[in-house]
Amino acid sequence: MIAVAIDGPAGAGKSTIARAAARKLGFLYIDTGALYRSIGLAVLRAGKDPGREADVLGCLPEISLSLRHENGVQQVYLNGENVSEEIRLPEISKASSQVSAFPAVREFLLERQREIARSSNVIMDGRDIGTVVLPFADVKIFLTASPEERARRRYLELKEKGGSDSYEEVLQAVRERDYQDSHRAAAPLRQAQDAVLADTTGFTLEESAALILRLIEEKMKGAAGKDGEGERT
Ligand code: DC
Repeated sequence: MIAVAIDGPAGAGKSTIARAAARKLGFLYIDTGALYRSIGLAVLRAGKDPGREADVLGCLPEISLSLRHENGVQQVYLNGENVSEEIRLPEISKASSQVSAFPAVREFLLERQREIARSSNVIMDGRDIGTVVLPFADVKIFLTASPEERARRRYLELKEKGGSDSYEEVLQAVRERDYQDSHRAAAPLRQAQDAVLADTTGFTLEESAALILRLIEEKMKGAAGKDGEGERT
């Protein structure tokens, strides 16, 4: 099986770019953030505090998650209910980042993510895919862009969906989530030593997608040349 790990901060365009590359390559696209978001949603729905470890741990036994691909699009189910839309709300972004700091939450999701990569060729996006989840991934990319650029992209996206947050508010939320995701003790956001850095500041989404696809194809060609060494299970 071939595994491509794409990590990077919130709003770098990972999901759009990874999805486009997966479609071109015929790989399964896995958005691991959806799993953390679903846990954040479950904790909020239970009326608990996503920032309190005891609250979150108390909720975990009640949570059953599954990822399914319907018409090539990933759908996430929380206790049998499709929550793919609801987990995109801004309050869930914050809750997901909070719950993701707890080691028990990361442990709860670790084997699930590895299992998916054992059964299909995948492009998996997240924060710790190249460092922790799939350290032997064939291709690792760290995708980033400046906080201002990421905030601008997210602001336009939210505005299109009818959101009323100002650019400054979105920028503030981006900075807070960056800080939280990269300063937690458990599997913080960082570039794997062997990851290729792709900074898409000033690139359009199409240009970024083309860059990533080229990086993946180059890496895969290189790996194939090394006597099948690129094949990992
Ligand atoms: O990619 P996203 O914005 O949907 O992720 C939501 C939160 O989940 C993010 O703020 C941090 C956390 N996350 C993580 O800790 N590890 C991952 N592999 C993916 C997401």
